[in-house]
Amino acid sequence: MTAAYEIIAPPTGAAPARARLATDAGVLSLDGLWRFAWSPTAETGRAPADPGEGWDEIPVPGHWQLYGYGSPAYTNVRFPFPIDPPRVPEANPTGEYRRVVRRPEEWDGGRVLLRFDGVDSWFEVWVNGVSAGTSSGSRLTVEFDVTGLLTGGDDVLAVRVHQWSFGSYLEDQDQWWLSGIFRSVALLHRPDGGIDDVRVVAGYDHIKGGGTLSVEATSTRPVRWELSSPLTEVQPWSAENPQLYRLEVSTDAETVSLDIGFRTVSVEGGRLLLNGAPLVFRGVNRHDFDPQCGRAVSREAMERDVALMKQHHINAVRTSHYPPDPYFLQLCDRHGLYVVEECDIETHGFSLVDWRGNPSDDPAWADVYLDRMRRMVERDKNAAGVVMWSLGNESGWGRNLAANARWTAERDPSRPVHYEGDADCESVDVYSRMYPGYDELAAIGRGEEPALADPARDRRRRGLPMIMCEYGHAMGNGPGGLAEYEAVIDAHPRLAGGFIWEWIDHGLGEKGLYGGDFGETVHDGSFVIDGLVLPDRAPSPGLAEFAAVIAPVRLRMDGDELVVENRWSFTSTEKVVFGWSLSADDMVIDEGVLDVPAVGPLSSRRVPLPPGPGLTVTAGDIAFVQRPAPAAPAAIGSLKPARPAKLGPFPIASLTLDAWRAPTENDRASLEERWRTAGLHQLVARTVEERSDETWWRRRVHYGPPGLDSGFDVEYRWAAAGEAYRLEVDIDRRGEWRLPLPRLGVALALRTPAPGSVWLDWLGLGPGESYPDSRAAVRHGRYGMTVREAQTPYVVPQENGNRSAVSRLTLSSPDGDLHIEGDKPFDLAVRPWSTTQLEKARHADDLTEGNLLWVHLAAGVTGLGSASCGPAVRPSAEYRAAQARLAFTFSG
Ligand code: GAL
Repeated sequence: MTAAYEIIAPPTGAAPARARLATDAGVLSLDGLWRFAWSPTAETGRAPADPGEGWDEIPVPGHWQLYGYGSPAYTNVRFPFPIDPPRVPEANPTGEYRRVVRRPEEWDGGRVLLRFDGVDSWFEVWVNGVSAGTSSGSRLTVEFDVTGLLTGGDDVLAVRVHQWSFGSYLEDQDQWWLSGIFRSVALLHRPDGGIDDVRVVAGYDHIKGGGTLSVEATSTRPVRWELSSPLTEVQPWSAENPQLYRLEVSTDAETVSLDIGFRTVSVEGGRLLLNGAPLVFRGVNRHDFDPQCGRAVSREAMERDVALMKQHHINAVRTSHYPPDPYFLQLCDRHGLYVVEECDIETHGFSLVDWRGNPSDDPAWADVYLDRMRRMVERDKNAAGVVMWSLGNESGWGRNLAANARWTAERDPSRPVHYEGDADCESVDVYSRMYPGYDELAAIGRGEEPALADPARDRRRRGLPMIMCEYGHAMGNGPGGLAEYEAVIDAHPRLAGGFIWEWIDHGLGEKGLYGGDFGETVHDGSFVIDGLVLPDRAPSPGLAEFAAVIAPVRLRMDGDELVVENRWSFTSTEKVVFGWSLSADDMVIDEGVLDVPAVGPLSSRRVPLPPGPGLTVTAGDIAFVQRPAPAAPAAIGSLKPARPAKLGPFPIASLTLDAWRAPTENDRASLEERWRTAGLHQLVARTVEERSDETWWRRRVHYGPPGLDSGFDVEYRWAAAGEAYRLEVDIDRRGEWRLPLPRLGVALALRTPAPGSVWLDWLGLGPGESYPDSRAAVRHGRYGMTVREAQTPYVVPQENGNRSAVSRLTLSSPDGDLHIEGDKPFDLAVRPWSTTQLEKARHADDLTEGNLLWVHLAAGVTGLGSASCGPAVRPSAEYRAAQARLAFTFSG
């Protein structure tokens, strides 16, 4: 038996796809509460004419799984059902939606369209029991002509939505499976002689200066248009200066308006250009996501995304992996973000069966593919921000994608076409890769990538600019190594930047639920929690790092000169205020404004620097550079051997060697196994000797893993120095240790009733956490926060909160203060729980504070890398020392 939703076909009864236009014609929003009935199978037993009186109510837009019907499920690549296209499981959850509508009386004559902006995954719509059409393409707009079906009185609108359909095979994006009417619904009046569609191509001639414009409108009546500025006077649009102009197009029946931007995207000489200048994406991949509402994102959430992106110097978004809510594109136009808009096509699950039966190469799916591409391009063709079309994601390769590329190039020659899966660049205008290593990226930058078999094709690809449609996997704590990517991008004009994977953690609800938390049997765990912002959009340290790495102004000290590099393509530094300050110890002793003559776009300039150590120079809040003052060594009195039971107000519960960390998700994909094999997580201590001499109380301890003969020889030396204590620790690695260590130092457990409320004040890098390959955003200074605030609440608990280059700290509890001063800068993490607790927790709320404060003092730590999908920690960020000496003075 074949159900309608198993027939591979474009929408039926749908009006031609067209641009989203602001209009003075009537628009009636149908968002709000609808009647709703849910059924675990497609046979709902509900008649389309049934108005649904007495049924439950559900908000539209929304996903039914988030209102208690069925449950969300997360898979990355795997389809959660057998691959048997176009068939889907009998257990096909189905939602029946009802709403009474009334055609507004003032909508005289003309037609009425019913518009859906997003319904997941297949639906049929009826008016008073009469079918108006069917549609799929979950993240694509569709309109039905319902003119003849509306009576003018109360009409029953019925929508039956099936969770699974043939379309699900094209919607295997790495995200939650969530269903229902999740974007807005509206009734649109189309007056006779109105304007059905407008196509604007607004270019900018950067040589002559001035705009070029072509306007095509679809109407049965004569059309006029008017631009809010003469073309010769328009300013170009760019993400740096998103200048928009109002274009009004009218007939005597309707006026529509568009905010258009003048810009020309081109590929010239192997480079990607915008208005003649290099177009380098410093971008992110963004899914529509909200922790409470899934893909039904509010306008506020979209505004927040855009504001955060702009604040963090992000200039581009790839709408992975489907067209976003149309409002998001308006925001990109208005606030300045370049958009690679991607079509709602991903057939990734077929890769697990060697791409057998992949729809991308099956003629039976050709019309559906083309329909999807057309609906995206037609809706968003006038968006200034959209600078590139993407055919989809991870769908293999085949004739249907090639046909979509051809159609797009013909329909819209003004924008290059992208698709990462066209590895030979047979049909696309840019070469795209995901997660290349640094060396590979540099080789591509130099045009030295391995050759394709076909020389002509190879020549063509080698002549194309390259983008990383995904890099810098932001899962858990990370990504590390972004500065290294940026350096490679900077060095090679062929490289047009890239897009971090990804913008937001898709953790659901307050708790940040991930795969498996809903009892799914097939799932991919926390792989969906891989964003630069946490689910509630709180910026993670990874976002701060990315912002610092991609900052449009860069500062460097070179002897007694400051080098100011302007990385903007169109903007000078004339509005940037450069400041300097001198600090001694932790106090600012002098400050002022630095006179830096304006630096033009893509150029740099040297200016003299004020002399002296402890110098910080800032470029507004965009960039900083420091020449830290060396910390003054602590004055230590004469030493006497001693064994403290208490440090300041805190009784000591334990002091141990610390060579372990709660693995990050990047560690899990790389170093963790080697660390566990080496037994770093389960070192066994044996005291070799305890003795006092004239100066020290000495304790020598051997730490070794079960079953192995390698280990650490450690000597702890304690002495009293007046009111203070000295601790020196010598650590020697013994045996065959060829691996980088997570960290190397000591962990002190201190007793205190409310460890999270202890106030932590330190001198070192801050205020955020930092690791050897993620420290562009932190600066030397004195910082204070509670221990609780010093934890980064990653959705999946893991190593976090390291503060680097710390020279001293104070821990304050109601019982008093403890000052700790290092002879040399050290790595610090202070936690209200142990590493073991952190490692075992699956969710943040599994972590509970006890009565111990854990103070981790390390000679060094290993960086983060991005091995959960991408390169491991670079050798330069690995901690490999064979010996370490730590020395601290503790005073109350
Ligand atoms: C890519 C894919 C993304 C995401 C990422 C890993 O292959 O395009 O959707 O799955 O890997 O998080």
